[in-house]
Amino acid sequence: MSQQDTNPGLHLRHSQQSRLQKAVNAYKQGGARYLWHKSMRRSLEQWPALKRRIVYADPRDYWTLRGGSEYLAEQEGQPARTARSRWLASRIAACKPRSILEVGCGYGKQIASIRTAVGTDVQITGLDFSPSQLALAQEHLKSDSNVFLIQGSGDRLPFPDQSFDLVLTSAVILHNPPEIAEAMRRELLRVARHWCVHNEDTDTTYNRFGYDTAAWYQQRGLNLVEAAPIPPEVFVGSDDAAGESARSQFCLVRLR
Ligand SMILES: C[S@@+](CC[C@H](N)C(=O)[O-])C[C@H]1O[C@@H](n2cnc3c(N)ncnc32)[C@H](O)[C@@H]1O
Repeated sequence: MSQQDTNPGLHLRHSQQSRLQKAVNAYKQGGARYLWHKSMRRSLEQWPALKRRIVYADPRDYWTLRGGSEYLAEQEGQPARTARSRWLASRIAACKPRSILEVGCGYGKQIASIRTAVGTDVQITGLDFSPSQLALAQEHLKSDSNVFLIQGSGDRLPFPDQSFDLVLTSAVILHNPPEIAEAMRRELLRVARHWCVHNEDTDTTYNRFGYDTAAWYQQRGLNLVEAAPIPPEVFVGSDDAAGESARSQFCLVRLR
C-alpha cells in the first residue's frame, strides 16, 4: 500500500498539485484566454445550455482556441477516431473522385486517411475557418504536394460552381448554428460536381446542434444513395461503440 493510500490528505495535496500543474501547462501553451477557455469547458459540464452561451458563443473562436496540439493528441489517442476516418476514406475512394474538397478539415486527419485510400493523383483541398487547426494541418500534411489548404468559412466557399468531384464534411455542419448550417449545405451542393458525402452526428450537446442531414436532402428530392449509421464495428477501441454508431449518420448523395 502506498503512502497516498493510507493518507487521504497527501492524496488531496497531490491531486491539487497536478491540477495546478495542468493549469500552468495550459497557460504556458496558450496564454490566459486558453486557460480560461479550458477551465470553462471542464467546469460547465453539468450545464450544457450555459456552456454553449459562454464557451461556444463564437464557433470560430472556439475552434481556434481548442485547435492546438492538445486537441491533436486527444484525437490521435482514440483508435476509434482513426478507424472511423479509414472507413470514411474507403467509402470516398469507392466513388472514384479525381478531386475532393473537405470543408472543416481540422488538422488534416481525414485528408491523410483519404490520401492513403485514393492514391497520390487525386487533388485534395482542405478548408477550415480555424487558423490554429490549419497550422497543424500544414505540418501534418507537409509531405503531400497534392493537398491544398485554405482558410475560409463553410457558409461562403471561395470556389466556382461544381469545382470538385466530391465534397465532404465530417463532424462539421453539426458544430454550426441553424442559419450557418443551412448556408453550408447549400454551398456544399453548389461546389460539388458528382458527390456530397457527410459524416455528421445527430445528437445535441453544448457544441453540437443535432441535425438530420439525410432529411435535408430528402426534403429537396435529391438522390440520397445511402443514409445510415456507421456500423458499430467501425468504432473499434471505443468504450461506447453502440452509442457512437447510434448517433452517427453517414450520407452519400449522387448529384449528376
Ligand atoms: C470536430 S473537427 C473535425 C475535423 C475533421 N473534419 C475530422 O473529421 O477530423 C471540426 C472542424 O470543423 C471546423 N469548422 C467548423 N465549422 C466550420 C465552418 N463553418 N467553416 C469552416 N470550418 C469549420 C473547425 O474549425 C474544426 O477544425
